Amino acid sequence: MAKRSRIAVVGSANVDLTTFTDRFPKPGETCFGQKFDLGFGGKGANQAVAAHLCGADVFMVARVGSDLFGPATIENFKKIGIDTTYVKQVEGVSSGVAPIFVEPNGQNRILVVKGANDELKPEDVEAAAGMLRTADCIVLQFEIPLETVYYTIAFARKHGIRCIVNPAPAQPIDMKALAGLDYFVPNETEAETITSLPVRNLDDAKRCAGKLLECGMRRVIITLGAKGSLLAGRDSMDYVSPFSVTSIDSTGAGDAFIGSFAVFLAEGATEQEAVRKANLYAALSTTGIGTQKSFYNRAQFEEEWTTQGRTSAVLGLSS
Ligand code: RIB
Repeated sequence: MAKRSRIAVVGSANVDLTTFTDRFPKPGETCFGQKFDLGFGGKGANQAVAAHLCGADVFMVARVGSDLFGPATIENFKKIGIDTTYVKQVEGVSSGVAPIFVEPNGQNRILVVKGANDELKPEDVEAAAGMLRTADCIVLQFEIPLETVYYTIAFARKHGIRCIVNPAPAQPIDMKALAGLDYFVPNETEAETITSLPVRNLDDAKRCAGKLLECGMRRVIITLGAKGSLLAGRDSMDYVSPFSVTSIDSTGAGDAFIGSFAVFLAEGATEQEAVRKANLYAALSTTGIGTQKSFYNRAQFEEEWTTQGRTSAVLGLSS
């Protein structure tokens, strides 16, 4: 029996307003969408839910707004079983929201209004220090102020806690603040924006990961969507092939990857195995609509792993 891991997520919580559409309106045009879905989202919250469903004890450090969505978000965390001691409501600010558009092939486009997520400050992380120090891993994304992200990375480093950063949405960053980071996990678009290098194929991804490693990160994982993942370190580079599923909505797949990866790693899996498992967990999340509600629980995941686990491989690449 794997050890039960403790994962802390310092990050965002949003409410997702997802419209499924065949096409986008032109300027000044009104057109019909096919379907609508309202759900709890936000990269931080999604990663927390994925980690919890994979079997970890999870606690969230977050801020929600003083609107209808704020208490509902806290209630959702509680119902799921995520510790909300450090999830607080901020007066006079809206909650984070995300209008999302999904095309028939499952591809999504997301707009995020940060709202209360922007109020999560370094002092809020400090207030949660006692709890954070007990974590096996701290997980961060970029929907909160970057000063809070940098502060938390430094906190994790100081206390020897594994730290995973998902630079989403991508934005200009202070690379010095990320030196020595354990895991930096962008997708192709984020990797491109951050390095200004194109990521159109595996060779590009290798080059891009190399540039990020030069900035002092210990490991870089570039998730390549339906094409698998690249796991890169200064000593080795591995391509981890994907699993084949029928995708209907890819929203939140990156979050499913990060949340599950944190748990597999904390349970003692090797990095390659943790990436392989996270690839499957993320792929499965694209077979359902929405983010958190499309995530599998551990028993469902293990069933799929038993049947599909062998269909993906790790391929060592020359770095
Ligand atoms: O990664 C998907 C998430 O991005 C959505 O849940 C949305 O809220 C945005 O944060």
